[in-house]
Amino acid sequence: MKKLTLLGQISPDEFLRTYWQKKPLLVRQAIPGFKPVLTREELFELAGRDDVESRLVTRLPRKWQLQDGPNRDLPPPSKKKWSLLVQGVNLHNAAADALLRQFRFIPDTRLDDLMISYASDEGGVGPHFDSYDVFLLQAQGTRRWRIGAQTDLSLEEGAPLKLLRNFAPEQEFDLEPGDMLYLPPHYAHDGVALGECMTYSIGFRAPSYQELAEVLLQAMADTVEIDGRYSDPELAPAKRPAEIDTAMLSKIEQELARIRITPEDILLFLGEHLSSPKPATYFIPPVRPLPLERFVAKACKTGVILSPKTRMLYRRNKLFINGESFLLSPDDRGMLITLANERELNPDQISNRPSDGLDALHQWYQHGWLTLR
Ligand code: SIN
Ligand code: CO
Repeated sequence: MKKLTLLGQISPDEFLRTYWQKKPLLVRQAIPGFKPVLTREELFELAGRDDVESRLVTRLPRKWQLQDGPNRDLPPPSKKKWSLLVQGVNLHNAAADALLRQFRFIPDTRLDDLMISYASDEGGVGPHFDSYDVFLLQAQGTRRWRIGAQTDLSLEEGAPLKLLRNFAPEQEFDLEPGDMLYLPPHYAHDGVALGECMTYSIGFRAPSYQELAEVLLQAMADTVEIDGRYSDPELAPAKRPAEIDTAMLSKIEQELARIRITPEDILLFLGEHLSSPKPATYFIPPVRPLPLERFVAKACKTGVILSPKTRMLYRRNKLFINGESFLLSPDDRGMLITLANERELNPDQISNRPSDGLDALHQWYQHGWLTLR
């Protein structure tokens, strides 16, 4: 895989300081000599699968048409003005996963997926804005991007996709294979294919605080423990029996104020939430899994590698993998955080001394979360 040279010309430090979440950046030949990681036919095949999210967007003379996947009946490439967008290609293709991982100067908590779009001549999805940062890497053919910093983000009504009502582009670039355009959230853009083309979107995630609050409160509901029951040995005869009296209200206020959300609670819920697999992900367990001892013997010879679908994060002594949390013991910490950061372990990084860490690796192998190399 050709390496990203964005960092050769601009350091990650400078990129983050000057452009990230702030302003667009066009990088000519970000990946010189870039070759697509899969063919048009392989992309079309993915779009037909039930476990792959895709959209077919067609521009008709007076309206736009949107067809959610699975998309099995695609127009012929010779037909103009249609585009197929396939989400999460990195989950199903190792080369796409390797490409996405070149962007790990942005942490895994923010990196989301690689979307690939195919467009026939004049195809595109219309002028719009996204809520997330994106790197648009041209993979094949030429796409003309027009972009603008407008603050009027009002949308056309009644369209099946988000289209800007008043698109006012300020800059125009024709991107050739290997060129890349970074756009911060809410930056207006429209990309139109000049002939057939494929574009890769390296997408990011940023949870809304509302979503986080809802997940946190659900997690708290499952774990909260608060003893006692309301009692009122001093109850006086009720004059207005339907009224909630002050004594009851203040006592319950006082008792419920014992619920505390600690930094530990927040770390646990956040780690589990951010490491949860993307929706509709399913893992493929090994058909005949090796028992623990044989698994360890083999892992010590070949190493192990995480499934591209696995999300693994950690902080201090807490490890999060695919929505579950584990306490790291000092013995296993080195090995497991190497696995999280490198997404693989070489044989010499695996100790064959029995440990909880090896049991965990074996369990994850049985779930299909990692495989022997
Ligand atoms: C596309 O690749 O056609 C759309 C990508 C985008 O505008 O975000
Ligand atoms: Co967009």
